[in-house]
Amino acid sequence: MDQYIPPDARILDADADYKALAAQDPVWTPPPPPPRTLPANRREFIKGVIASGTAVSAVSYTLGARSAQAQNAAAPERLITINVNGQTRRVDVMANETLAMTLRYKLGLTGTKLGCDRGECGACTVLIDDVPHHSCSTLTHALRGRKVTTIEGLEGPNGELHPMQKAFVEELAPQCGFCTPGQIMSAVALLKVNPKPTRDEARLALSGNLCRCGAYDHYLNAVMRAAREA
Ligand code: FES
Ligand code: FES
Repeated sequence: MDQYIPPDARILDADADYKALAAQDPVWTPPPPPPRTLPANRREFIKGVIASGTAVSAVSYTLGARSAQAQNAAAPERLITINVNGQTRRVDVMANETLAMTLRYKLGLTGTKLGCDRGECGACTVLIDDVPHHSCSTLTHALRGRKVTTIEGLEGPNGELHPMQKAFVEELAPQCGFCTPGQIMSAVALLKVNPKPTRDEARLALSGNLCRCGAYDHYLNAVMRAAREA
């Protein structure tokens, strides 16, 4: 982005047709790889290997982190349309940008946590078309026209907590709270498809959400309470 646009300035009108807008977004396709030419003979091949090795190590030594920055700067920027928590959002995303980064650092939705950043802990769980996904392992540009729900999107019209959040509070489930948004999103997704789960079904649904505080039984109690009271 040449110019910073605050997140709230990128919310389109409520009646904006986000699917139609998304259909007009440019689709980035990677450039074709350069044609490979075979070296003329063995001597030139060896010289080429030595030269490229020297160049790579020299670049990584002298430029270090700057080379990564330069790569990012060279990557194309794209303006895409996604529906986040019922609002149509236009965001500039890099080709390699994950949804977690877009949500947290471009849209200001910091309720989605980043733990491992490699699809292992579940802290970054959000719903995409009502199905739980690891946002740290989902590329934003793959979400044109899709519906994303984050923990902020569970808030009621008057700011009240979602019934699942209330159940979590009543069961004293959050300890440090870092894994809690991800646990809640997985639990909400479960009750959408299975409103009366058994405890084992709930355990399975939340098995991708790690809790370093070990509050697993509290979380299960909360899910069962929310299912009972729904
Ligand atoms: S931060 Fe995404 S799974 Fe851990
Ligand atoms: S409550 Fe601390 S990580 Fe789960």
